[in-house]
Amino acid sequence: MGIQHIFKYTTFLFAGLFILSGCPTDPPGEGKGEYVVLGYNDLGMHCMNQDFGDMMILPPFNTLHAQVIRRNGHEPDIIASGITVEYTIPGNTTSVDKTDFWDYDVALFGVDLPDNVGLTGNGLSGTMTYTGNGDWNVTGIPVTPIMDDQTLNPYPLAEITVKKDGVQVAQTHAVVPVSWEISCNLCHTSPDKSVNDDILSKHDEMHDTDLMNSKPVACMNCHGQEPLGTHGDPSLSHAMHGSHATRMGPVAALQETCYACHPGQVTQCQRDIHYSEGIGCTDCHGDMAAVANPARRPWLDEPRCDDCHDREEFEFEPQGVLYRNAKGHQGIHCAACHGSPHAITPTVTAADNVQAVEWQGHVGVIDTCTVCHESVPGGFEHHSDDGEIEDEDDEDDDKKSLLERILTASVN
Ligand code: HEC
Ligand code: HEC
Ligand code: HEC
Ligand code: HEC
Ligand code: HEC
Ligand code: HEC
Ligand code: HEC
Repeated sequence: MGIQHIFKYTTFLFAGLFILSGCPTDPPGEGKGEYVVLGYNDLGMHCMNQDFGDMMILPPFNTLHAQVIRRNGHEPDIIASGITVEYTIPGNTTSVDKTDFWDYDVALFGVDLPDNVGLTGNGLSGTMTYTGNGDWNVTGIPVTPIMDDQTLNPYPLAEITVKKDGVQVAQTHAVVPVSWEISCNLCHTSPDKSVNDDILSKHDEMHDTDLMNSKPVACMNCHGQEPLGTHGDPSLSHAMHGSHATRMGPVAALQETCYACHPGQVTQCQRDIHYSEGIGCTDCHGDMAAVANPARRPWLDEPRCDDCHDREEFEFEPQGVLYRNAKGHQGIHCAACHGSPHAITPTVTAADNVQAVEWQGHVGVIDTCTVCHESVPGGFEHHSDDGEIEDEDDEDDDKKSLLERILTASVN
């Protein structure tokens, strides 16, 4: 209860701050420097537990990407080296005081991580590395939805700064979405047990396990979870959606029944143009049974934009590539122009719109050509062809094939 009130208050406050401090409204393109940087989160929402003493579904683990482009006449270059790309999360600089994850890292993962450092060795600020796929990233940022001033904010804004020879040449702001609003408590209540004990004891009764005596329980130890690299059968996704598909009665009245477990009635992680157009989870994903379909590979077989956007000109979406990794328009990532999954701009959240406003003065897809091109080129095409990836360390680079360049760049 209390949390919901605080949350409503803080969203209001945050929305207010953006208006009061004023989003930068430089003239589009012109007046910007030589470099452009566009950031995006891989999932559009990362879900984590807050307390790990009883059980863990997912640890803190946020992955942030950025694409750096040099505005260079008609033919902008995608930059793969010769710069540093740094990130911070202003106002959200510690996590160890907000979740007990670091008390259970050894029990859950067998590693003793330094405070505020996540599973891939990255912290709440640091540098990004080139991915080999045209952009830069940092994996496993252990960010939580609690700001340093204790307000709840599932949409903290990371600040991404590009430096060349130690001098700042570009900066942007991109959301690192995170929520622990996992509402198992909507159904798993019993008078004499905690929510977690209700879940674990039911699991023990129904599947002859001894989870109550094995705390902290990591579901991944027996059930495959692709993001955590485990492959036990049934996968956690198949197990959860399959077994709960026929149990959804008690939450049928929710506007979005998937919010019984996904974040959530308060967080509203589906916050994009599709939400505004009345398109919900099941329109793209299907219902619980469809998500549990044994023929579906969890985390790999996801909706595609061209499931619905199938006009003739839109046959550009690459096959067999998740939206989060896909590129269009000469090697620019879809998410760099359109935003993260579930946050396809324009969004109803202020924070997710900040980047577009910073670069082009208005919300929505990056449709202002001069954000990247020095002058407006001819027709716009989506194309999935790759543009040239520029290695600024190597002047002979233009003579190398694209593949050679990507390979060299990724080992730098
Ligand atoms: C819409 C109601 C509802 C929600 C929400 C819900 N559950 Fe359940 N869950 C049930 C019911 C009903 C059972 C069956 C209990 C029984 O038969 O005694 C169950 C059983 C389980 C079991 C026992 C194993 C099995 O065969 O299913 C686990 C584990 C479980 N739930 C985990 C969770 C977790 C974790 C969450 C939150 C992410 C969650 N549930 C959210 C209704 C719900
Ligand atoms: C020690 C191994 C183990 C751990 C740890 C474990 N499970 Fe299970 N789970 C099982 C087994 C075994 C089954 C039965 C699988 C079957 O019937 O094919 C099962 C079944 C389930 C089912 C019902 C699947 C179905 O189709 O009926 C759910 C839901 C579930 N587990 C959720 C969880 C959650 C959530 C966690 C973490 C809190 C968890 N499990 C941790 C071993 C485990
Ligand atoms: C407009 C279509 C659309 C809607 C609406 C939508 N999703 Fe998705 N969802 C996607 C796409 C596309 C992906 C694959 C993104 C990727 O990984 O590249 C995805 C992926 C996911 C994932 C896996 C994590 C990830 O991002 O890869 C989860 C979990 C998920 N969606 C849950 C939901 C829930 C819950 C809702 C409703 C609150 C919802 N989605 C609404 C299109 C949609
Ligand atoms: C009873 C709880 C529960 C409900 C209700 C639920 N989910 Fe999930 N969902 C989970 C859990 C737990 C995971 C994490 C699995 C993992 O980590 O691999 C998950 C993961 C996912 C994923 C990513 C993995 C995959 O299979 O691709 C998608 C997509 C997804 N859910 C869609 C939905 C949609 C759509 C709905 C509503 C129709 C929904 N979920 C309702 C518990 C639930
Ligand atoms: C379930 C069908 C469905 C899926 C899947 C889907 N969309 Fe949409 N999208 C729509 C509908 C319907 C609209 C609103 C009507 C319109 O403008 O076409 C819309 C609107 C949009 C708009 C706004 C268009 C405008 O002119 O205002 C953008 C941008 C967009 N979608 C991008 C995407 C991207 C990117 C993906 C993949 C991550 C995607 N959509 C997946 C159905 C879908
Ligand atoms: C350089 C920026 C840029 C990139 C990169 C980009 N788009 Fe777009 N996209 C746009 C613009 C601008 C529009 C609107 C103008 C138009 O309709 O042609 C658009 C429109 C769309 C729409 C249509 C929405 C509608 O009106 O129905 C979809 C779907 C879409 N893009 C998906 C993608 C996908 C998928 C990728 C990656 C494979 C991608 N885009 C890459 C800029 C971009
Ligand atoms: C996010 C950055 C970005 C935005 C925004 C962008 N472009 Fe591009 N564009 C590129 C890159 C990178 C290339 C590849 C240049 C090369 O060939 O190396 C490119 C190439 C092109 C090309 C082919 C190369 C040439 O110039 O002959 C055309 C045409 C083009 N863009 C048109 C547009 C139009 C029109 C818009 C606005 C609707 C636009 N672009 C917006 C990054 C962008």
